[in-house]
Amino acid sequence: MRKPLIAGNWKMNKTAAEAAELVTILKEKLAGIDEVEIAVCPPAVNLVPVYNIISGTNLKLGAQNMYWEESGAYTGEVSGPMLKEVGTTYVILGHSERREYFKESDEDVNKKALAAFKFGLKPIICVGETLEEREAGKTLDKVRGQVKAGLRAFSREEVIETVIAYEPIWAIGTGRNATAEDANEVIKYIRELVREDFGDAADQMRIQYGGSVKPSNIAELMAQPEIDGALVGGASLDADSFVQIVEGARK
Ligand code: PGA
Repeated sequence: MRKPLIAGNWKMNKTAAEAAELVTILKEKLAGIDEVEIAVCPPAVNLVPVYNIISGTNLKLGAQNMYWEESGAYTGEVSGPMLKEVGTTYVILGHSERREYFKESDEDVNKKALAAFKFGLKPIICVGETLEEREAGKTLDKVRGQVKAGLRAFSREEVIETVIAYEPIWAIGTGRNATAEDANEVIKYIRELVREDFGDAADQMRIQYGGSVKPSNIAELMAQPEIDGALVGGASLDADSFVQIVEGARK
């Protein structure tokens, strides 16, 4: 049985004070939920204040990015050991915004993921097609390339620890989500790709959906057999809607 993961990707939102206010409400309203794993992913500068509030609760901490080197002259970057030491469990890697605006390649994502394991973090690797690619019937090709390159040189154990977030780019922040059936189909395909290289570790790896997840669509997404939770952007910034999404993910 795969435990669903609902992760809030706050992106570049919330000051430390706003972040503290949000997680103070979340930890109270989500207390005791055990059948769904819950993570919040604030901007790096707010990992410490958020962890100070959620430490010892059922909320886990995730980062939105990291660099693959341990330390050194890499101005502006944050390393795995730094994230680990402040209580981080997950790290989102290869989000489409990072791929598009910051030119991250599949190879970068793979290097970051391997470094994440080395320093005791679990990667949430994002994959997904553009609208153009979808309309040209290239969704599966795109996802195949990203998954194969992203998981290159992983061990079986590392695959089991990995989360993949399937996020069609045209559904991110647009209010336009993939249908639950379409998302399930692509996620099923991703699991088959993982099975090709890692056998039944594919059955233990969690694959989330992301892209305009909200309280009104979480239940139908979670009703699909292959969907193991959600990576939630906009709707994770509001306590009530994030709480409703977590509640909706309890099968
Ligand atoms: P969204 O973002 O929920 O605002 O569409 C999802 C994501 O980018 O992870």
